[in-house]
Amino acid sequence: MNPIVDAAAKVDFAFLIIFVISVAVLALVTGLMLWFLWRYHHTRHPEAENVRESVWLEVMWTLIPTILALGMFWFGWDSFKALQSAPEDALEVRVEGRMWSWAFIYDNGRRSNVLYVPVDTPVKLTMTSTDVLHSFYVPAFRIKRDTVPGMNTYAWFRPEEAGDYDILCAEYCGLKHANMLSVVRVVSDEEFGAWYTGETDTKAADKGKALLEEYGCVSCHSLDGSDGVGPTLKNIYGTTRQVVKADGTEAEVVADKPYLRRALLDPNAEVVKGYQAMMPGYDGVIPEEDLLEMVNWMANQGAMTMPMGRSVAEGEGCLSCHSTDGSEIAGPTFKNLYGSTVAVLRDGVEEQATADEAYLREAILEPEAVISKGYQPIMPPYGHLSEDDLSALVDWLKSLSKAGG
Ligand code: CUA
Repeated sequence: MNPIVDAAAKVDFAFLIIFVISVAVLALVTGLMLWFLWRYHHTRHPEAENVRESVWLEVMWTLIPTILALGMFWFGWDSFKALQSAPEDALEVRVEGRMWSWAFIYDNGRRSNVLYVPVDTPVKLTMTSTDVLHSFYVPAFRIKRDTVPGMNTYAWFRPEEAGDYDILCAEYCGLKHANMLSVVRVVSDEEFGAWYTGETDTKAADKGKALLEEYGCVSCHSLDGSDGVGPTLKNIYGTTRQVVKADGTEAEVVADKPYLRRALLDPNAEVVKGYQAMMPGYDGVIPEEDLLEMVNWMANQGAMTMPMGRSVAEGEGCLSCHSTDGSEIAGPTFKNLYGSTVAVLRDGVEEQATADEAYLREAILEPEAVISKGYQPIMPPYGHLSEDDLSALVDWLKSLSKAGG
């Protein structure tokens, strides 16, 4: 076994050793108990007997448990050490836990809320938290490590196979603890390189569009905003649509990813008002991966028309606490926030503020200075945002409001 192959294998081995010992002890104790029951039953052994002093027995029952305990400790220690020592050539990624999302920051400044890594390469994580204790947990790689505000903790792993592996938070951290999910996306070296340098973003854009053309979608749905047999796909993402359901009732839906997916798989369940229910369903026709590409393309419109502010908000994890549809999460919704009058606590004193641009900037950079009344002061400051990102974010917030849109 390679000395560092691998921490995960050593953890499994320690687990196996402890499991085998536990089963053996269980079998031994249960066996002895049954045998004693039988052997010393009063019909076979009517007279009780007092056994005194057996040096041999005393030595054994001291020695054997000591060896077992030390053995278990040794294998535990060995795997613990392996978990602690990342190889020198590991790819380093910074991890920030915060309520309630993970951010992964790479050496070139790239930020993501999915942990992209190349296959068969050791990855070293330097982790911290911007608010409370979280715990970075990837069961597949046998990693579970607290992230602590104000200090760094470390973990490393070497993914052997490409694929998605769940990331969870294993330390209760408030309301949306259970939603603090992400994935480690293990990809080939080339794919990782392309993602790392940002190439993928533009390519993915083209792929989704190519698929929409391939499946013939564009013959009814234009990409340039013109009207056709069906609604145009231009800037469709995030719009509010009036739809007629199969039973004839009307409803208002937001064209988010789940909607776009439904609209492709079972289009006649929700037909946009004013159009004919004539689109065939694509359930079982379009493979899942193509479906994802197409939906992502519509959501991003090739990363070109997706408001930059929205990608900032997604990357920074804003949306885990602030909704865009008016619903309450842990913070105020972004919908119609801009231009509204909000009751805030400034230095503990309540005042009325207008959510203008200056207010939004302050609330992002120094959230603790202006806490919206009725909310907990739990948002971390976002002073690390570049001016570009910040203004994109503020512009996007404006667009979510009647006053600004
Ligand atoms: Cu973060 Cu639980």
